[in-house]
Amino acid sequence: YRPPLEYVEGIPLIKYFAETLGPLKSFHAWPDDVLISTYPRSGTTWVSEILDQIYQGGDPKKCQRAPIFIRVPFLEFKIPGCPTGVETLEDTPAPRLLKTHLPLALLPQTLLDQKVKVVYVARNAKDVAVSYYHFYRMAKVHPDPGTWDSFLEEFMAGKVSYGSWYQHVREWRELSRTHPVLYLFYEDIQENPKKEIQKILEFVGRSLPEETVEDIIRHTSFREMKENPATNYSTLPSAALDHSISAFMRKGTTGDWKSTFTVAQNERFDADYAKRMAGCNLHFRWE
Ligand code: PPS
Repeated sequence: YRPPLEYVEGIPLIKYFAETLGPLKSFHAWPDDVLISTYPRSGTTWVSEILDQIYQGGDPKKCQRAPIFIRVPFLEFKIPGCPTGVETLEDTPAPRLLKTHLPLALLPQTLLDQKVKVVYVARNAKDVAVSYYHFYRMAKVHPDPGTWDSFLEEFMAGKVSYGSWYQHVREWRELSRTHPVLYLFYEDIQENPKKEIQKILEFVGRSLPEETVEDIIRHTSFREMKENPATNYSTLPSAALDHSISAFMRKGTTGDWKSTFTVAQNERFDADYAKRMAGCNLHFRWE
């Protein structure tokens, strides 16, 4: 059964996730929380693992203690047969790492009131669209994505779960004027993980020896995370995530969109992109 998306304040969401917005109203953020915020498929799991590794002093065994969605509670998470994000939070001691994909309109106000530090990760829209399409296919809490061509149209129109990529990357950038936000790019982490991890360390007020940072880079490589049951989502029920359709850790590259977009789709996408991103100072690397 693939439930249709539910619209909350004009934003389409996975039905189960929409049901958590009520219970989330009683959630209280703490000032030492750190929130990892992303549009889906932008490097959330990667940066979550990097941050948990940092918090655990780079000890890979401690980071095996539970799957990533338990170690870093996913605020609006709900799938049948699993603890919800709100329930997971109840068992999570400070200092907490939290994850959300919510746009600002649906973000619990307590996170802003408590000035919770935000690590935001953005990824180029074409790779996100391709990754999201394969995720829709395998994560059956989403509606059927249909053909790639029709999914791409829905993505451009912001009619996929969590709404518009364009609005998401722009509004969280805008928030960084008034709120502590470290705005990172997936492509930069791939190009120079050491530099980006140093930025994260400084932002969360921690430091680690250089060799520990090197260990973290190794343990958070795509190859290791794909094989690690604590990061590859293989422990969720297969009725929710069917890895035989597509892996959660699929390719982990930049520029994979070229193998999927036709020339015509690319031209249409670029023209639409120029309009939607006009006047915005965000620059993405596409390959
Ligand atoms: S989700 O479902 O929104 O939480 O997904 P998210 O974790 O944000 O994004 C999944 C994509 O990130 C890739 N990924 C990585 N790339 C490089 N290195 C590492 N360590 C890594 N971990 C996850 C993952 O493969 C998904 O991208 P695609 O392009 O589909 O492979």
